[in-house]
Amino acid sequence: MKPRLLITRKVFPEVLAALAEHFDIESNQADEEWSAEDLGRRVADKQALFVVASDRIDAALLAAAPDLRIVATGSVGYNHVDLAHLRGRGIPLTITPDVLTEATADMAWALLMAAARRVCESEHWLRAGYWKRWAFDQFLGEDVHGATLGILGMGRIGSAIARRARGFSMKVLYSNRSPAANEAELGATRVERDVLLRESDHLVIVVPYSAATHHLIGAAELATMKPTATLINIARGGIVDDVALAAALKAGTIAAAGLDVYENEPALAPELLTVPNVVLTPHLGSATRTSRVGMAMLAARNLIAWASGEPLPTPVPAN
Ligand code: DGY
Repeated sequence: MKPRLLITRKVFPEVLAALAEHFDIESNQADEEWSAEDLGRRVADKQALFVVASDRIDAALLAAAPDLRIVATGSVGYNHVDLAHLRGRGIPLTITPDVLTEATADMAWALLMAAARRVCESEHWLRAGYWKRWAFDQFLGEDVHGATLGILGMGRIGSAIARRARGFSMKVLYSNRSPAANEAELGATRVERDVLLRESDHLVIVVPYSAATHHLIGAAELATMKPTATLINIARGGIVDDVALAAALKAGTIAAAGLDVYENEPALAPELLTVPNVVLTPHLGSATRTSRVGMAMLAARNLIAWASGEPLPTPVPAN
């Protein structure tokens, strides 16, 4: 008999087909909104669970799944899963590193360029029919080339962002718990976080979310940044205090921001919707076809490896 697998989201047909050879599947191909209760009811008789970053896999849900033997998340971040609970029960959690690194770095740059050069703000203005004549001081933004790029968190994605900065002749600063092994190759200099905040023209947040990084960037930190600075968050909601950021953008404490992630997504702090100098995207960092198929397929490969008794390709590393 095949093990029973619950997939919480619609997945690509080729991924479903690969999994179907090894599992008896219940999948959300209709892309319905499942409540925590729905999820608890559906997972109750499953041995395997395939989730995404926006599913909350907490102790209460896991307690409703006594037969669970493996969880695979189609994401590199795993702050949505109660890892301590899983480890307590000896249940592995797998993630999807690498396959999304380059696409996510591209997205950080898309937001940086759009925010610094006021692309979305001016487009909305143009579409609304306000463009009557050209002017020297219309929608002046900030230079990206030759500026100082700050990267908060220098892992795989941070490094990919830094590599792209070379083409823009930028000075790259970063802040990380430990020095990056590829520091010299990236031409990046490690500095303390307060220096990073103070000296960056464009600051990109790439640290993972945890209790230690909750509201790491709030009103006090924003106040130390340059009034011309751009702030980009492609990591996780909750690292930046979105309400404080909206206030800082309104007050001109910093010039612009680009956000792909939010504290209570898909809900947004209403304040963010009222400021024009922030570019807002709906958690699309990894959203290219190649990257998203790669993520779903890697999650599937982990599940199939488990079902076949083989080593898991990408488990959460033991810390
Ligand atoms: C991740 O992989 O963690 C991205 O945020 C996509 O959910």
